[in-house]
Parts: sequence; C-alpha cells; structure tokens
Amino acid sequence: MRVHSLRALGVLGTVTAPLLMATPALSQETDSATGLIIAEGWQVVSANCTVCHSAQLVTQNSGSRNHWQGLIRWMQDTQGLWAFTPEMEDTILDYLATHYGPKAGARRPAAGPASVAAAAQSLQDARDNQRQHPGVARRGGGGRH
Ligand code: HEC
Repeated sequence: MRVHSLRALGVLGTVTAPLLMATPALSQETDSATGLIIAEGWQVVSANCTVCHSAQLVTQNSGSRNHWQGLIRWMQDTQGLWAFTPEMEDTILDYLATHYGPKAGARRPAAGPASVAAAAQSLQDARDNQRQHPGVARRGGGGRH
C-alpha cells in the first residue's frame, strides 16, 4: 500500500504537475469523520456527498472530472440528488478531480506512457466537459435567477 501510493505520487509529480497548475500537497490531512482529504472544497463535498451514502463510496472512487460529473448527473437523474449551482458544482468537481482523480495504474497495466495517455485523456475530458455547457450560466452568473 505504502509503496503503491509512493509510486502514485511519483507519477503524479512527473506527469501531471506540468499539466495541472495545482500540485497536491505531499502529506494530505484527512477528516477523521469522513476520511475525505482536507483541501479546498472538502466541506462542500462532505455536506452534500455523505447524506445518502458513506463518504467511503466517494473516497474509494476515482476518475476524471468528466467521470465525476457523469456520476453526479446519474445520481441527479435517478437517485434524487439535488441540483447544484454551477459554482458549487465546480467546487465539488475541482475537489474530486484533484484529490480523487484518475489513478495511475489502477486500471491501466503500466505506469509511463499509459499514465501520460491517462493524463492527456483527463485533460481532454475537462475540455469536453467545458464544451458541453454552452447554455449553463457559467460566466457572470447574472443572466438567470
Ligand atoms: C440523494 C442521495 C445521494 C446524494 C446526496 C449523493 N449520492 Fe452518491 N449515490 C447515491 C446512490 C443511491 C448511489 C448508489 C449506491 C449503491 O450502489 O449502493 C450512489 C453512488 C455513488 C457512488 C458509487 C458509484 C458507483 O459507480 O458505484 C459514488 C462515487 C457517489 N455516489 C458519489 C457521490 C458524490 C461525489 C456525491 C456528492 C456530489 C454524492 N454521491 C451524493 C445517492 C446519493
């Protein structure tokens, strides 16, 4: 476990750091009640994502921003999850994609080129994601009420 996560950190450091602006802190504190990593947005996630099921479901999952958004849409469409404002959803997705992002080596056989592909894919997902929102009040937020 320890070796595994050290390797993951190494991969994160070399592969995603140049791509993403924010480099995750090396020693991450977790909330003792939920197990969520304490970082910007964690309280929003804690308040909204541990109501129907344990936070473990969240912390054991991982994936790109797109993956998380898909899960949220699914829960909204079929499980009674409430709607978020675009700002709130951004906070939640930023938090999840940053701290519970695609795992290097989790489903892919090897680190290295595959991880680079994974990182590129998640960037691509992020862009697709933004493209899917032409009508949502993302800029300004003053257009709708
Ligand atoms: C209104 C209730 C509700 C809320 C609030 C909720 N979920 Fe869920 N979620 C569910 C249900 C129901 C399931 C299916 C549980 C199961 O399969 O045991 C689920 C499953 C999941 C799963 C597992 C999906 C899988 O593929 O197995 C994840 C991850 C998840 N939720 C994340 C979140 C996150 C992140 C939030 C906050 C944005 C959230 N949930 C808020 C109802 C909710």
